Amino acid sequence: MVIYGTRPEAIKVAPVIKALEEDETLSPIVVVTAQHREMLDQVNEVFQIVPDVDLNLMAHGQTLNEIAGNVIMRIDAVLDEHMPDAVLVQGDTTTVMGAAIAAFNREIPVVHLEAGLRSGDIDSPFPEEANRKIVSQIARMHLAPTRVSRSNLLADGVPDENIHVIGNTVIDALHWAVARAVEFTVPELKRLSIDDRRVLLVTTHRRENLGENMINIGRAMRELATRYPDLLIVWPAHKNPKVRASIEPQIVDLNNVISIEPVEYGEFSHLIANSDIILTDSGGIQEEGPSLGKPVLVLRENTERPEAVDAGTVKLIGTATDRIITEVARLLDDRAAYSAMANAVNPYGDGHSARRSVDALTQLLSSEGR
Ligand code: UD1
Ligand code: UDP
Repeated sequence: MVIYGTRPEAIKVAPVIKALEEDETLSPIVVVTAQHREMLDQVNEVFQIVPDVDLNLMAHGQTLNEIAGNVIMRIDAVLDEHMPDAVLVQGDTTTVMGAAIAAFNREIPVVHLEAGLRSGDIDSPFPEEANRKIVSQIARMHLAPTRVSRSNLLADGVPDENIHVIGNTVIDALHWAVARAVEFTVPELKRLSIDDRRVLLVTTHRRENLGENMINIGRAMRELATRYPDLLIVWPAHKNPKVRASIEPQIVDLNNVISIEPVEYGEFSHLIANSDIILTDSGGIQEEGPSLGKPVLVLRENTERPEAVDAGTVKLIGTATDRIITEVARLLDDRAAYSAMANAVNPYGDGHSARRSVDALTQLLSSEGR
């Protein structure tokens, strides 16, 4: 049973669901909590995945405990009905933590995809660092993207034989998406491929950035758009109304800032490819940007994804307005600084991680006689 609830989980489990559908011995039961609604549906549509069970949990203004409580209770009933041989969860959201606990309490083996990421700070990202650590304590099998994540798991006392380093399925999804010929359907993006202005792609949503940090990010976007009239800033706004409330008022009157709804994944991968610089607090985009050779400036103080930082393509810059402006301006004004960051590095896999996940699952289930 594959259980997921938000956009990034949907993107990263999609290749695994596809591989399970093609497998001769395993078959997936696809369960969505729908902690996200529209942003989840958008991904399932692109990958043509129709969930077997949809709990439709999302509520505006949902709190962490509402999500966690609902996920545990509702997933428990789904487990009771279907009794799967194993449950697979991906990443670090509240859906992941809740579903893993529900399965653990029913003694159903939990398989954790993208296991072992650590920022080292339990408060940041919040609550994701705690979620991943909790899942690491109760998972039966850990599918780690890199050797760094494997070391983190070993340091947490996870037995080596329960860890498989398989790469990150985000690369499987990205390869698939980038290879598709996609015309932009979003009107504001249609002219991107012929527009010779430089493109700054911005995405923001982290819970710990809501409020003052988000306002600072909006201020920096305004200043950059004003200082560089030949720069095009593209901001696909996260559906969270709190994100929009902090940024929208600051950019609404600027004609070189394009504010759009979340872009479906197929088009978004092409939007990354058409961008010059990425400014983001996203986890997944820190993996995708480097794969496409795009400098990524991360609006956070730390990261659980150090691999591309070490390779020089990702830089942590925090959320102070002046620092954001300085860092983007450097990349815009200094060709050497830009070239030094714009390297395609891919520490996250070769695009075959989904197949390896299914092989590891098969091994787990046969070792347990299922
Ligand atoms: C969640 C995850 C975060 C992940 C992010 C990916 C938790 C605690 N947070 O954060 O780890 O990085 O998703 O984007 O699990 N909303 C909609 N439609 C949607 C999605 C969201 O309207 O399709 C609005 C709703 O008002 C919702 C709010 O956004 O209440 C926040 O959603 P929520 O899942 O609680 O938190 P995110 O910040 O999206
Ligand atoms: N993404 C998308 N459309 C958008 C913005 C992002 O498809 O408009 C994809 C992006 O390519 C990445 C994922 O969503 O794979 C990241 O999601 P998000 O930033 O919401 O969550 P995080 O990765 O931080 O958990």
